Amino acid sequence: MVVMGVVASAPAKVILFGEHFVVYGEPAIVIAIDKRAYAKAQTRNDKNLHLRSLNLNLAGYFENGTFKIEQGELKEAKSKFEPAKLAVEKVLEIYGENVGLDIEINSTVPVAAGLGSSAAVVAAVTTSVGALLNVKMSKEDIFRITCEAEKIVHGTPSGIDPAISIFGGTLLFQMDTGFKPLEVKMDIPLIIGDTGVERSTRVQVEKVRDINERYPRVVEPIMRAAREIVLKAMEALKENSLETLGDLMNINHALLYGVGVSDESLEWLINAARKAGALGAKLTGAGGGGCMMALARNERVQEVVEAIQRAEGKPFVAKKTDEGVKIERT
Ligand code: PMV
Repeated sequence: MVVMGVVASAPAKVILFGEHFVVYGEPAIVIAIDKRAYAKAQTRNDKNLHLRSLNLNLAGYFENGTFKIEQGELKEAKSKFEPAKLAVEKVLEIYGENVGLDIEINSTVPVAAGLGSSAAVVAAVTTSVGALLNVKMSKEDIFRITCEAEKIVHGTPSGIDPAISIFGGTLLFQMDTGFKPLEVKMDIPLIIGDTGVERSTRVQVEKVRDINERYPRVVEPIMRAAREIVLKAMEALKENSLETLGDLMNINHALLYGVGVSDESLEWLINAARKAGALGAKLTGAGGGGCMMALARNERVQEVVEAIQRAEGKPFVAKKTDEGVKIERT
């Protein structure tokens, strides 16, 4: 039996340590945060796939493979909807039948900002369509589908964004060995600062590839240092050592700066946060704009928030969440 409408949601994330170097097989630590993307799926009477994003003010539909615009700019809408479309097609393939669908996306995650908005949206869409059509899918199945769809956006993604948006919590992620949940008992007071500068993860990943190809013997020890940071951070998380985590963030940021993925907008906010008493600050995600994050003792959080605001960033305090992708309503 096909039910009428299913809502699913998936969380955004911040990479605490190890972005970019993770693409080369190094480990990374990633946390799911309390900002979520929502997707509602409903069946239609025709065979078309209608997609609407309430937060981006975009809408359109695919009719026999051709995209027609209903709201917003055609090229932008088509490229933003492409991963969700691919994910829906994969679910329909498993379902073994062609049905028309209405998908409504509503995300509270800033777009193209390093918080994994596209993976969260695709994970929520995949899950809502699967539940609507009663397709039996494990979290691993949703992970595989989301990874495939992410390739359209990112080129050669490590898979870290789909992993965290589906499984939630805190993960130690490594491309060849997969991911392992980390039990983190300590409170990690994180302030995220959005520079408002949109950028493409694909372009940022290519920048690092280029630097690595030109200076392999220089970049290799940087990667090794990034690995040591992650190993040390795991100890610090066990020992509840905020100070060590802050130091490691500062060092990790210096490495990312070294491979060319920071920019003026990020440096501005990172300096503001450090001056306001943050224990550490770094870019998070792909860099080149997007978001930075700062770690501060609870009594300093408000000062860091205000400093980021004064530096013309958009701050928010992020809380970690254990909830990965989930059905909100059937
Ligand atoms: O900025 P985001 O949310 O797309 O994160 C990208 C993380 C990278 O390590 C830069 C790329 C990847 O696929 O792991």
